[in-house]
Amino acid sequence: MAAVDRVLRVGLDSDVLLVRSVADYIIGSGGKRLRPALLLLVARACGYRGVHHHTLAAVIEMIHTSTLLHDDVVDESAQRRGRPTANTEFGNAASVLVGDFLYSRSFQMMVSVDSMRVLQILADATNIIAAGEVQQLMNTGDVNLDEQIYVEVIQRKTAKLFEAASRLGALLAGVDASRETAFANYGMHLGTAFQIMDDLLDYTGDAAAIGKNLGDDLAEGKMTLPLIRAMAVGSADDVAVVRHAIEHANEDGGLTDFSALIAVLKQTDALTYTQSRARDEAARAAACLSAEPASPDKETLIQLCSFAAGRSF
Ligand code: IPE
Ligand code: IPE
Ligand code: MG
Ligand code: MG
Repeated sequence: MAAVDRVLRVGLDSDVLLVRSVADYIIGSGGKRLRPALLLLVARACGYRGVHHHTLAAVIEMIHTSTLLHDDVVDESAQRRGRPTANTEFGNAASVLVGDFLYSRSFQMMVSVDSMRVLQILADATNIIAAGEVQQLMNTGDVNLDEQIYVEVIQRKTAKLFEAASRLGALLAGVDASRETAFANYGMHLGTAFQIMDDLLDYTGDAAAIGKNLGDDLAEGKMTLPLIRAMAVGSADDVAVVRHAIEHANEDGGLTDFSALIAVLKQTDALTYTQSRARDEAARAAACLSAEPASPDKETLIQLCSFAAGRSF
């Protein structure tokens, strides 16, 4: 991971001062570095002995970072990684443009691996992530959104990058197609569990621990799994509270709605159901590795499943 960090630092370099300032600000504020770690772990579990894993892990983190820069503009979010977001600190224009810089720099870096398959996997992943974010935007304020569409969106916007990271680790090591697919599926389920928990923590988490403000999803009228579940199983009164909160999301008084909404989520099974769906996806992720030989790296990959579904940050 220290080697990945060195590649990342070199990748942030630019003769344009504002690029360096914004890029240093967001990358320097840390984050869990989960996706690059995933790529390294899978590569090592598959016996990879080359040098490209550091580059590709940095590429994955750079793509992730560029989506966060754009996402916080779109979501009008004020806190990320325990600090004011880049859009709060430098403005929307700088965030969007430096996001573009990091995104295109990641493509410059991935070319150095000189593999058409690597380019294909990352070109597909980034395109699908973008489509997922647009699809979610179209769904804003739609109280009738169902669980199936919700899962489709989170698989695109979030799990796809986990899938790509995991697949690339296996691909680098030159494993056969069935093992590569198993690792790709592992990443897809892991990323799905991860985003379901992200959506749960937006209601139940501790802002200091997650480094983001709670209630951002509701404030932008986003129907995530806790709300979808409450709509599906709640009483007529519960449904009315959710409907009102989503349909009036962008108006003043959102905070009073928030406590009423939390009460609904608690009195229906929305929170426990969401948690159990995350555990379910994490278990599916672990099951994808059942044919893998035992190794310390495999153990860590399985622990990542428990982390994804049990995390508080
Ligand atoms: C945040 O991802 C965006 C989501 C897909 C939920 P992370 O929670 O991995 O963010 P950092 O990198 O650790 O800040
Ligand atoms: C994260 O999505 C951004 C992408 C996956 C592209 P969210 O908007 O759900 O996540 P946070 O809560 O801002 O981290
Ligand atoms: Mg967001
Ligand atoms: Mg978003």
